[in-house]
Amino acid sequence: MTEQESEELAASNLGTLEYWENAYAQELDNFRDHGDVGEIWFGTVNSRKVVRWITMKLDLNKENDKIIDVGCGNAMTLVELAKQGFANLTGVDYSQKAVDLARMVLNNNNLPNVKLEVCDILNNTLSHDFKVVHDKGTYDAISLNPEDPATKRQKYVENIHRILSSKGYLVLISCNWTKEELLKHFANHFELESELPTDTFQFGGQTGNTVTQLVFRKK
Ligand SMILES: C[S@@+](CC[C@H](N)C(=O)[O-])C[C@H]1O[C@@H](n2cnc3c(N)ncnc32)[C@H](O)[C@@H]1O
Repeated sequence: MTEQESEELAASNLGTLEYWENAYAQELDNFRDHGDVGEIWFGTVNSRKVVRWITMKLDLNKENDKIIDVGCGNAMTLVELAKQGFANLTGVDYSQKAVDLARMVLNNNNLPNVKLEVCDILNNTLSHDFKVVHDKGTYDAISLNPEDPATKRQKYVENIHRILSSKGYLVLISCNWTKEELLKHFANHFELESELPTDTFQFGGQTGNTVTQLVFRKK
């Protein structure tokens, strides 16, 4: 195995559109049947902590600054951001079923003004004026794609850089990459602004983070 290959994650169906379409078809049925919004990736408590951090620590204009959640899934992060008063919100996901679920969840929370779009972040026509990009688990999913994940990761970094306004922020939450790995992946286009604390667990006498949460600033 070359050094390049050894730095990739083992491919998984979580890296394919087919997987997410099937998963969200199921989640849509569950939502229609009993109002269950489905999986909250990396936990509700942690997600709320990140949203609170964005609210308190980033110098943002709640009315005007544009925030986008890439790979928004069920839109629960957008719901939390709206609860904090952010008014210029967009969610994108490459799964039509995810966007259908997101629209239902947003309507259920009386948030019809949050914009949604079916969009592959690796091939998009989004505007270039977002102040904040939030990503929980999407860079991870892209990294698991069975076909040429290294090129896809590179494309992700370039595209996120492009859609951000000058000095915009990327809030990145990953369960597959360490801080050191992410710093390497993003070094050419971003600098580290902050590292958000995460819950730790003990295993075999060692303490380790389950999730890496970094805030990058566009160079
Ligand atoms: C682990 S889920 C996280 C969903 C959501 N961020 C959350 O926290 O609930 C990964 C999401 O990324 C989306 N996704 C994966 N690759 C994508 C791409 N290239 N463009 C847009 N969305 C993508 C999937 O459809 C899925 O909704």
